[in-house]
Amino acid sequence: MAWLAFLLISCLQTFSPCQANEQAFLRFVGIGDWGGLPSYPYYTPHEFDTANELGRIAESSGLDFVLSLGDHFYFSGVRDVDDTRFKSTYESVFSHPALMNVPWYLVAGNHDHRGNVSAQIAYSNRSERWIYPDLYYELNVKVPHSNTSITVLMIDTVVLCGNTYDGLDPVGPEDYVAANQQLKWIEQKLQNTRSDFVIVAGHYPVWSIGHHGPTKCLVSKLRPLLKKYGVSLYLCGHDHSLQFIREDDRSSYVVSGTGVEEDIYTGHKNSFPSSWQLFSNMVNQTTGAFVYFEVDTNEMLISYIQPDGKCVYQTSVPKRKSPTLTSS
Ligand SMILES: *[C@@H]1O[C@H](CO)[C@@H](O)[C@H](O)[C@H]1NC(C)=O
Ligand SMILES: *[C@@H]1O[C@H](CO)[C@@H](O)[C@H](O)[C@H]1NC(C)=O
Ligand SMILES: *[C@@H]1O[C@H](CO)[C@@H](O)[C@H](O)[C@H]1NC(C)=O
Ligand SMILES: *[C@@H]1O[C@H](CO)[C@@H](O)[C@H](O)[C@H]1NC(C)=O
Repeated sequence: MAWLAFLLISCLQTFSPCQANEQAFLRFVGIGDWGGLPSYPYYTPHEFDTANELGRIAESSGLDFVLSLGDHFYFSGVRDVDDTRFKSTYESVFSHPALMNVPWYLVAGNHDHRGNVSAQIAYSNRSERWIYPDLYYELNVKVPHSNTSITVLMIDTVVLCGNTYDGLDPVGPEDYVAANQQLKWIEQKLQNTRSDFVIVAGHYPVWSIGHHGPTKCLVSKLRPLLKKYGVSLYLCGHDHSLQFIREDDRSSYVVSGTGVEEDIYTGHKNSFPSSWQLFSNMVNQTTGAFVYFEVDTNEMLISYIQPDGKCVYQTSVPKRKSPTLTSS
């Protein structure tokens, strides 16, 4: 019976559009790897369609902010703050009127680090909606008209694990002191937060069945912290796919890296238990644009959206039981 109910629910959710709820929600999108092309026209058709769908969903359902998960400019980031790629790959593509007042919070990917990341940080001074205060930082927001709190740690996984070449695992941090400093910062923030939902967002995946697969450095350094402090969700890009992975004890992982194109390779599907692999555009044969989150006072609803607007998978993550509160 439970099995039948699951099927019914998943079918309903698969074939109905994502319904905008009347209740107060905090709404945001996770999207990575939308960095266009290094030559004319500096964007791909897939990026263009994805940007239009992002505008449409902002207009119809609402969008409070975007979490941008790195690889903003293929293949070597930007040169300086005056680089024309800010316009040709970002401003003129994500140009839907409904997106003009939506803030983007960004973290860098491996391709950004091949160029000038300081220039991407400095661009925060040139654009009202581009908010990139530092390599890594914390966001604290609330569900409207409530005390339900969400903490997002925006982290730089390239500083943490090193750059990567030819699709190989990252080679190890360029600066071990900076890597350890960031790891300490992450642990301290996770230890101290009492928020109802805690998201950690970076570029490289912990788990992925795709082209690059799991990042060994994050599996060994970050995953234990996600588990220890009951993080609601780890959100990333890097692999050009959409995935939902949930470990047996409920730690959840979202890959949202189809900004520029879509990859259907599943070369790493044997790298962790298949029972954790609940959805992917490859196995489930959908296309992908981005992942849309709606948080209310009880749960975080997670919807996987195609460029044509169809919602192809929906799941949710419950509010955390705050360890700090129950133990005090
Ligand atoms: C990076 O960009 C900043 C801002 O435009 C600029 O001041 C700096 O010189 C650039 N660094 C390099 C190495 O080009
Ligand atoms: C933004 O501009 C102000 C004033 O010119 C400057 O002090 C600040 O460092 C700039 N911020 C960034 C991120 O470049
Ligand atoms: C939020 O918490 C404060 C302090 O406990 C309380 O006064 C207020 O009514 C709460 N607001 C809502 C919308 O629950
Ligand atoms: C995705 O595909 C897998 C393997 O065929 C299947 O077990 C799972 O139920 C599918 N999920 C959805 C949401 O369709």
